Parts: sequence; structure tokens; C-alpha cells
Amino acid sequence: MTVEVRGVTHSFGNRLVLREVDVELTEQRVGVIGANGSGKSTFARLLNGLVVPDSGSVRVDGIDTRDDPAGVRRRVGFVFTDPDAQIVMPTVAEDVAFGLRKHHLGPAETARVVAEALDTFGLTAHADHPAHLLSGGQKQLLALCAVLVTEPKVLVCDEPTTLLDLRNTRHVLDLLAGLSQRVVLVTHDLDAALRMDRVLVFDAGSIVFDGPPAEAVARYRQIVAA
Ligand SMILES: Nc1ncnc2c1ncn2[C@@H]1O[C@H](COP(=O)(O)OP(=O)(O)O)[C@@H](O)[C@H]1O
Ligand SMILES: [Mg+2]
Repeated sequence: MTVEVRGVTHSFGNRLVLREVDVELTEQRVGVIGANGSGKSTFARLLNGLVVPDSGSVRVDGIDTRDDPAGVRRRVGFVFTDPDAQIVMPTVAEDVAFGLRKHHLGPAETARVVAEALDTFGLTAHADHPAHLLSGGQKQLLALCAVLVTEPKVLVCDEPTTLLDLRNTRHVLDLLAGLSQRVVLVTHDLDAALRMDRVLVFDAGSIVFDGPPAEAVARYRQIVAA
């Protein structure tokens, strides 16, 4: 399974946000770091077709996001910074079930899969609670649960811990670390970045470093100091 980003340039209006980004992702854990506005979120959104590039191409498993966005989205799950942006149904269990609607499992099988997923994420006691009443950390666990229940091959997380306290941050990061799925983690948490297999550093829309985490973090610190 490969995620291939080839010669991608992208603008919003007349603002050039990504410049000739060229990268192939094959590692289990890829981190993405860089200053605010450097293009990290736009890059993350490319990977599941939420953003289609002005020029260049993005392919997941050989499928171009321009040709088959639905096919790409089945393979690439996305977790946003703000879980409220992702929670769509009134109760916790309904929200997880919603993600499964395209799997046509039938009510009994859906209930079984949802129950199992809620158990994995420690949300069983909240199954019938209003999702909006969960704590921030629990909401992010719910968002993760609702995405992972659809069994994507790759999970792209755009600053999933930015709104969480230290304890919930650890919980979410530990969960991500334990996944069998591939993970692309955009983060300002440099400790989390150091746990990745490979880290991309963005600056002004370009990848300015791509390699081992410790060197990537050092490069990012250099950019900030300059
Ligand atoms: N939908 C959009 N419309 C217009 N400008 C955008 C949009 N999304 C991002 N931008 C701009 O693109 C630049 C890069 O943004 P982004 O990819 O979100 O960077 P980062 O995630 O690294 O902070 C920023 O200047 C931002 O204001
Ligand atoms: Mg961002």
C-alpha cells in the first residue's frame, strides 16, 4: 500500500499553499510538522481527496484522488483537530453506526460491530449518551472510533491532540501507536513526532526535510529560530 504525492502544487485564490510537493509514503508511522500556515493541513487533506490539487497527482493504492474520491476515502480515514466537526449523530453508538452505513451490514451485525468498537475505545458506558455531552478527550476517542470502525488502511490525523489536556493527549497517542493501520500524524507535539518512523517538515508550502524524527525536529527548531 503506497500513498504517492507527485508534483503537487496548490493555491487557494492567489495564495500558493503547496509548491511542488513530491513524496511517497510507505512507512507505518509518518509525522508532519511545521509552523502554522506552512501547508500541513492542506497536505493532509490531499491524502483522502478532501483537497484535489491544482496540478500534480495523489494516488492511494494506485487510485487517483481526482478520479475516485470515494474509493480513496474508503482507504484513508481522516480525524480532525476538533472532534465536534466530526460527530454527526445524537448518541455515541449512533455516531459510530453512522460510519458503517455504507457497509450494508444489517441491524444485528451493525450493533455487534459498534459494541465491539465502543468497548475497544472505553466508550461502552456512554453508548446511549448524547455525544455532545462527552468531554473533549472522550469526543476525540469517539471520532477515532467512528473512523476506525470503517477499517481504513491509512488514518490521517490533523493535530488530533491540540485541543486535549495532557492525560487525553497521552491516551489518544497511545491508541494511535497501537493501531495496525498506517498513520499520518500532523502535530505540534514534538514528543509525538519523535515516536514516528519518518517525519516531514513543512515550511512555506514545501517539504524542507524528510527523514528521521530527531533530525526533523532539529530542523524545525532551526526554522523557528531563524
Ligand atoms: N480553504 C481555504 N481557503 C483559503 N485559504 C486557505 C484554505 N485552507 C488553507 N488556507 C491557507 O493556506 C495556508 C496553509 O494552510 P494550512 O494548510 O491550513 O496550514 P497549516 O495546517 O500548516 O497551518 C494558510 O495561509 C491558510 O490561510
Ligand atoms: Mg493545520
